[in-house]
Amino acid sequence: MKILVTGGAGFIGSHTVVSLEEAGYEAVILDDFSNSDKSVIGGLQKILNKTVPSYAIDCRNYAEVRKVFREENIEGVIHFAASKAVGESMEQPLLYYQNNLGSLMTIIDVMLAEGISNLIFSSSCTVYGEVDELPVTENAPVKPAASVYGNTKQIGEEIIRDTTAAQPIKAISLRYFNPVGAHPSGLIGELPIGKPNNLVPFVTQTAIGKRAKVTVFGNDYPTPDGTCIRDYIHVMDLAEAHVAALKYLAKQSEDKFYDVFNIGTGNGNSVLELIHSFEKVSRKPLTFETGPRREGDITAVWADASKANKELGWKAKRTLDEALEDAWRWEQQLV
Ligand code: UD1
Repeated sequence: MKILVTGGAGFIGSHTVVSLEEAGYEAVILDDFSNSDKSVIGGLQKILNKTVPSYAIDCRNYAEVRKVFREENIEGVIHFAASKAVGESMEQPLLYYQNNLGSLMTIIDVMLAEGISNLIFSSSCTVYGEVDELPVTENAPVKPAASVYGNTKQIGEEIIRDTTAAQPIKAISLRYFNPVGAHPSGLIGELPIGKPNNLVPFVTQTAIGKRAKVTVFGNDYPTPDGTCIRDYIHVMDLAEAHVAALKYLAKQSEDKFYDVFNIGTGNGNSVLELIHSFEKVSRKPLTFETGPRREGDITAVWADASKANKELGWKAKRTLDEALEDAWRWEQQLV
């Protein structure tokens, strides 16, 4: 089965290409390479021992996207392509709405025109906002988004929910918690352009000497050590969830179907715990200091992933230490 992976040269997309190929699917990458590097294609080639077809196309280009569907006989889509910098989304809201929602709507439009019915959408735990109960289940209310980026994920889910209610298309939204790590080969990983926003690339870049120090954003949160808690999930575990979701979609006999799943480990770790785990696995002390809270951060969130465990037959298998080890291996070979 041929699966179009939009944003397939990105962090989660590229790792999902590996999982798809390992599971016997054929991946086709569609990426505009605006926030990803062509070298990813070479890394994938080394891991998979084959060239994955890739198209440098903007997902909003209906004619070009449709041509790829036809040429490649696409049978399903995993839609990652999106802009994802929270801060930038607040400065350039229209860019985010146009890109993230325009891409999604064009992909669905082409799927309907071509009669292709299997869609997996990259959503985020950000849709839950500051949660009332932990761990958070899929039944928790979706709170008003704290950022334009978060809002594009919420609206994206609504677009899919409404379309799948009316038209013959089957879809799953996967609500990711915090993806970290890299492929254990060290051949693909996260490639932030400029200064990283996310914690783990900031940590590895500091350890390698690219950054002077990590700033811990606030130590006065109501958590055991005062720092925020997140559910950090190995990107390969996350990648494998997409394969499980595709298999689950294939089993649905209705022509219209929609569901959402949390994709996390079920464990929460604080910023300080993550830093100390990194120091342990890298055997390097990390320079860090405490700074003020970052605007828009929530105190704590981790997943109740039992729905995905039960229905998709998927479970995160890798530990935070493994993820940090893999992220560190990746950073070291980048120099
Ligand atoms: C962020 C986004 C989220 C997105 C996810 C993955 C926000 C509010 N949320 O999640 O929508 O889906 O990235 O791209 O930006 N931290 C530090 N110092 C740093 C960097 C981070 O202390 O230099 C802390 C943060 O305060 C947070 C934790 O580390 O508590 C994780 O931060 P980050 O990796 O940016 O992810 P999230 O903010 O959880």
